Amino acid sequence: MKILSVVGARPNFMKIAPLVHEMRKYPDIESILVNTGQHYDTAMAGQFFEQLEIPVPDVSLEVGSGTHAVQTAEVMKRLEPVLEKLRPDVVVVVGDVNSTMAAALTAVKLHIPVAHVESGLRSFDRAMPEEINRLVTDAISDQLFVSEESGRANLLKEGVDPGKIHFVGNVMIDCLERFRPLWARSDVRQRIGVDGVPYGVVTLHRPSNVDEPAMLEKLMEALVDIGRQIPLIFPVHPRTRQRLASLDVPLVTSLKGAQANGKGILCVDPLGYVDFMALVSSARIVLTDSGGLQEEASVLGVPCLTMRENTERPATVTHGTNRIVGTSTTKIMAEAWRVLDEPKPAPKRPALWDGRTSERIISILRKI
Ligand code: UD1
Repeated sequence: MKILSVVGARPNFMKIAPLVHEMRKYPDIESILVNTGQHYDTAMAGQFFEQLEIPVPDVSLEVGSGTHAVQTAEVMKRLEPVLEKLRPDVVVVVGDVNSTMAAALTAVKLHIPVAHVESGLRSFDRAMPEEINRLVTDAISDQLFVSEESGRANLLKEGVDPGKIHFVGNVMIDCLERFRPLWARSDVRQRIGVDGVPYGVVTLHRPSNVDEPAMLEKLMEALVDIGRQIPLIFPVHPRTRQRLASLDVPLVTSLKGAQANGKGILCVDPLGYVDFMALVSSARIVLTDSGGLQEEASVLGVPCLTMRENTERPATVTHGTNRIVGTSTTKIMAEAWRVLDEPKPAPKRPALWDGRTSERIISILRKI
C-alpha cells in the first residue's frame, strides 16, 4: 500500500509525526512524505522535523509564503505532477492549513482517495481561513478521521455518509505522549529564568487578532496588565513579530535583566516542540488564539484562556481546561485573575485522547 502524506505548516508536523512512525511498523506500507514548504524557517519548520524524528521528505515543493490564492495555487501546481507520477493509493492530509486543502483538492481531481485527519471541526466562522480549509477538505475527502465527538456530529449534520466517518481521537496527543520523556527533561525554564516560579505562556498569531493594530493593541494591553502579576513568556510567530514592531508596548528581552521584579512579557523566538511543551506543561496559565494549544493545555492540566470568540474544539471547554474569553481587554484580565486565584486543575482528556490514535488510523487505512 502506497500512502502519501502531506505536511506544510507548523501545526502539521506534530500530527504527521505519529502517523509516519506508525506506518514504519508495517513492511507492506510504502510511506511517501511530501513537504509543501508553506513554513520554511528553521524556527517554524526545520527544528520540528529534527525533534519529532520526521524523515527527510521524499519531495519538497518549496512553495513558501504568499496570499491565500497564490499559496494554494502553488501547492496544487507543484503537487499535481508528483501525484501523477507516484499514483499513491491514498493521500493523507492533516489539520486545516492552506496546504491541507490544496493537497486534498489536487488529489481528488486525479481520482486519488483522500484521508483527512482532524476532520469535522467547525468554528462556524467563515472569516477564518482555516474554517474554509476545513469545509472544503471535508467535503471532498473519502475517509474522515475525527478527533472529538463534535466532529462526528458536524459531519453528520452536513449530510456526510456515516460510513466515511471514523472517530479515532486526537493524533496530536499521540505526539505529546511519545515525546513526553524528551520534553520532561528540557531545561528551558532554567534557560529562560522561570524555574520554580509561576509564569504564563502566550501565543498569538490569528490574522483577526494581529493584523489590525487596534485589536493587537487591545490584546497587548490585557497581557501587559497580567504580566505585572505573573511573568508571561511569549514565543512570537513571524506574522505577529512584524505587527508588534509597529506598536509601542513594553516588552522585555530578558526577565532577569530588564526588570528587577522579574515580571513583564518576555518575547522570544518561536520555540521548538520539546521546549514549548516543557514550558506549557509547568505553566500556571496559557493565553492563546491557537487551536492545538487548547488541546495540549487540557491534557497537561493547564488553565487555558482562548482569546477568540469561538472554538472549533468544544471538547476542550466541556472536557478540558479551556475557556473562550473573547478579545475584550477587561474580560481577558478578569478571567486571568479568576484562574490565578483558583487551584490548578487536574489534567483532562476527552474520549480517545489516549496516545493511540495513529494506531487506529493506520489500522483503518490498511483495510480500505
Ligand atoms: C498558518 C496557518 C494557520 C496556522 C499557522 C501556524 C493557513 C491559512 N494558516 O498561518 O492555520 O495556525 O500557520 O503557524 O494555512 N513566515 C515566516 N517564516 C515561515 C513561515 C511564515 O517568516 O517559515 C511569515 C511570512 O511573512 C508569512 C507569514 O509569516 O507571510 C504568515 O505565514 P502563512 O503561512 O501565510 O500563515 P500563518 O499565519 O503562519
